[in-house]
Amino acid sequence: MTTQVPPKQRRNFLFTMLAGFGALLAAAAGWPLFRFLSPIAATGGSQVAIPRSEVVSGKAHFFDYHGKPAVVLQPAAGKFVALSAVCTHLGCVVAWKEQASEFECPCHGGRFSPEGQVLGGPPPKPLESIAVVLDGDQLKIG
Ligand code: FES
Repeated sequence: MTTQVPPKQRRNFLFTMLAGFGALLAAAAGWPLFRFLSPIAATGGSQVAIPRSEVVSGKAHFFDYHGKPAVVLQPAAGKFVALSAVCTHLGCVVAWKEQASEFECPCHGGRFSPEGQVLGGPPPKPLESIAVVLDGDQLKIG
């Protein structure tokens, strides 16, 4: 023996299921957009800690800064500089040229000083600076 569900009740059930499925689809589609538009500070801790011993004078230490390449170096004893490693021309990642003590962009030959100032090539502005402080034997960046 089967029981008949009234058409109105069946319609309400189908509408509820469709609305729930639609809300789920909207959330799944909107989440990546929300993450993309969220400011960096909203993604977690703001500072990155790097042991001072890893930043050797004359060499560059590349690291991940909130999902983007960054670099810290010690151009003079006890002086630390942290920069975005993203070229300000078209966004390539710069490389450290130890012999010349400067950054060079592999894409179009842009050159930057150890402090991020433009030395040559097409980059329109310096590498973005990131705050860095020495706290004990750790460099706190950001
Ligand atoms: S992207 Fe760096 S010089 Fe063009």
